[in-house]
Amino acid sequence: MSFNCAAVSLVCSLVFLSVASELISSHQPIVALAGDDVILPCQLQPAVSVSSEMLLWTRPGLDPKYIHVQRAGRPMLMNQNRSYYNRTALFVDQLMNGNVSLKLFRVKLSDAGRYTCIIDSKKMEASVQLIVGAASSSVINITGFDKGAVVLQCESTGWYPEPEVFWLDGEGNLLSAGPTETVRGPDDLYTVSSRVTVEKRHSNSFTCRVQQNHINQIREAHIHVRGRESVLHELTVLSLFTKDDI
Ligand SMILES: *[C@@H]1O[C@H](CO)[C@@H](O)[C@H](O)[C@H]1NC(C)=O
Ligand SMILES: *[C@@H]1O[C@H](CO)[C@@H](O)[C@H](O)[C@H]1NC(C)=O
Ligand SMILES: *[C@@H]1O[C@H](CO)[C@@H](O)[C@H](O)[C@H]1NC(C)=O
Ligand SMILES: *[C@@H]1O[C@H](CO)[C@@H](O)[C@H](O)[C@H]1NC(C)=O
Repeated sequence: MSFNCAAVSLVCSLVFLSVASELISSHQPIVALAGDDVILPCQLQPAVSVSSEMLLWTRPGLDPKYIHVQRAGRPMLMNQNRSYYNRTALFVDQLMNGNVSLKLFRVKLSDAGRYTCIIDSKKMEASVQLIVGAASSSVINITGFDKGAVVLQCESTGWYPEPEVFWLDGEGNLLSAGPTETVRGPDDLYTVSSRVTVEKRHSNSFTCRVQQNHINQIREAHIHVRGRESVLHELTVLSLFTKDDI
């Protein structure tokens, strides 16, 4: 607690007593990836047992409105929105410490939003933001040759929110690439692809970095473009591929 009580200590101590009991969650958003299990924090302070209380977790706009209902230590299905069925739990052995944190299993993209924990009898509540993302590995392919240069393509499927794509050379320098192509699938996930034309004299190793800062995710793919023989080999494979396709 960082109250400055020195100047008005009597008033301050009275105020302090009246606000002493509060429900605390997190000011920082909680970040999870789709499919993860996550804990949404909620703590009564000072820590007093809530084992016999009616405890509720809800979200604005939900109908039925409850994510989790717990009465006298036992979960109740009544009024639970079915999209949370079998995906929620409180920490039963922590209730005596005033810990009302919710464990949410198998997080979905649609779970993203603001969550509120409530101690019904005390009319106390606290809320926390849940951010849900998705991330996926990326793949680099050689898609063509242009005189002494090689055209590389990087693709990554299954991101949320939309990520950024960067190309780097072997020394970690950013390469300038064409515009990133983005497609959003029926599952709301983004597929991104980007092409870059690299001169082999620059360096032989290249990295495609797919990055989404809001969910702290980076996925990299590396390719080592080998000597002339290898390039010729790739050319042969490519032309065979084209023949088969026709
Ligand atoms: C859960 O709540 C949402 C938002 O109000 C609603 O669209 C959905 O139908 C509810 N799900 C069920 C299974 O009740
Ligand atoms: C509840 O979830 C568990 C996985 O955590 C699963 O094994 C079980 O089948 C689910 N039960 C129901 C009734 O959906
Ligand atoms: C509440 O309990 C859970 C499970 O033990 C724990 O992860 C979490 O840190 C606890 N919260 C607080 C505020 O102590
Ligand atoms: C790209 O390369 C990967 C292996 O690196 C391969 O599995 C995939 O089929 C290739 N895609 C195309 C379009 O050639």
